[in-house]
Amino acid sequence: MEHNKYHLALKTAFASEFSFYLKSHNFHWNVEGPLFESLHSLFERIYLEVYGAIDPFAEHLRALQIYTPASLQKFSMLTTVEDENAVPAWSDMLQELLADSDKMAEIFRITFEMAEANGDHGLSNFLADRQDAHKKHSWMLRSSLK
Ligand SMILES: [Fe+2]
Repeated sequence: MEHNKYHLALKTAFASEFSFYLKSHNFHWNVEGPLFESLHSLFERIYLEVYGAIDPFAEHLRALQIYTPASLQKFSMLTTVEDENAVPAWSDMLQELLADSDKMAEIFRITFEMAEANGDHGLSNFLADRQDAHKKHSWMLRSSLK
């Protein structure tokens, strides 16, 4: 596989994961409504889990000699998770973060295949774990909307 495409996909996944982290923290801070307590806690659980993956992910990139994107401008150029500048209603927050989490699971499914094809098995293990983590986040967000 062409390295440029592989490396760009990994940088995109990293920037998207960081943006997802930021949005879940945003929603933890700004959520309002009758379910405040439980949603404030759910968003916290999610942002803490995702934040815990950011540093290991960055160091996986460095191990492949990729410079880690690490500025707001670089993130906004690379991310597939769009910024939320408004304060959506609580149910819209759930729907938006669910769509983003599903997107992240798909990004990690694809980058897993790329890492496997390159023989980067430590990284592919990490990416498989990220896919799994996002499937769990999606489950909790989806269940909160029923
Ligand atoms: Fe907090």
